Amino acid sequence: MDRYAVIGHPVAHSRSPWIHERFARATGQALEYGRIEASAEAFAAAVEAFRRSGGKGLNVTLPHKEAAFRLCRTTSPRADAAGAVNTLVLGEPIFGDNTDGAGLVRDVEANEGYRLRGRRVLLLGAGGAARGVIGALLAAGVARLRIANRTAERARALAERFPGTSGGGFAELAGDPFDVVVNATSAGLQDAALPLPAGLLAEGVLAYEMVYGRDTPFLAAARAAGARCRDGLGMLVEQAAESFLVWRGVRPQTRDVLAELRGA
Ligand code: ATR
Repeated sequence: MDRYAVIGHPVAHSRSPWIHERFARATGQALEYGRIEASAEAFAAAVEAFRRSGGKGLNVTLPHKEAAFRLCRTTSPRADAAGAVNTLVLGEPIFGDNTDGAGLVRDVEANEGYRLRGRRVLLLGAGGAARGVIGALLAAGVARLRIANRTAERARALAERFPGTSGGGFAELAGDPFDVVVNATSAGLQDAALPLPAGLLAEGVLAYEMVYGRDTPFLAAARAAGARCRDGLGMLVEQAAESFLVWRGVRPQTRDVLAELRGA
């Protein structure tokens, strides 16, 4: 049976094995999907050991996505844009792809039913999570993409890599209207609030929190402001479906899997 796994640190609570087993059952594919716990020092050797033992593919999660990119000899254009890889195809040579941006766009458009084309989008954060979705947001045809970060210089540097975007700090956002605000910072994981200007999160704005499984200060602020709110659980399921497509050539249905995860 073809074997796959998610590799990360920590990885014990990853929902990827459950999601991919559901996809396999639903599409009639025979595969096994496990978990590999690996520190930064052990990452490359763990990938190689899995490949040598016949492993067909890996999902890569924190903190290894950039290391995975460096390890690949061939990569997709969307992985190149992200500078990070979340999907490895363990052939000879190893191929790296990145399905995070596609997962976000698909969750917003197909699951939330919100067209991104022509929208003014604000992306909060300038780390790997933010970088991973910029290419897909631009490809979705957004009218404007502004990147804002606590460390403004990081946002400006990131914007310089992506023509058509601009970057800066949070304070510069005052009075600037957006249709969509995507939180790609890790502030929610520490229950930290973002110093966003008043009026940014308002009725009619779609507030998207990439973190899932907890009510973050960003989501709470968006809800209090009457914004339309969505957490990152759908992005998790959609990036998994996109990885499954890369590996197996079949795109699984995601609706029931997402509904079941939300119910759990
Ligand atoms: P990731 O790969 O998850 O994006 P990262 O590269 O460490 O991780 O980036 C974390 C992001 O969250 C950064 O944009 C960081 O802002 P800084 O560049 O200023 O560090 C942001 N972040 C983390 N904690 C934050 C907080 N409490 N308030 C605001 N931004 C925060």
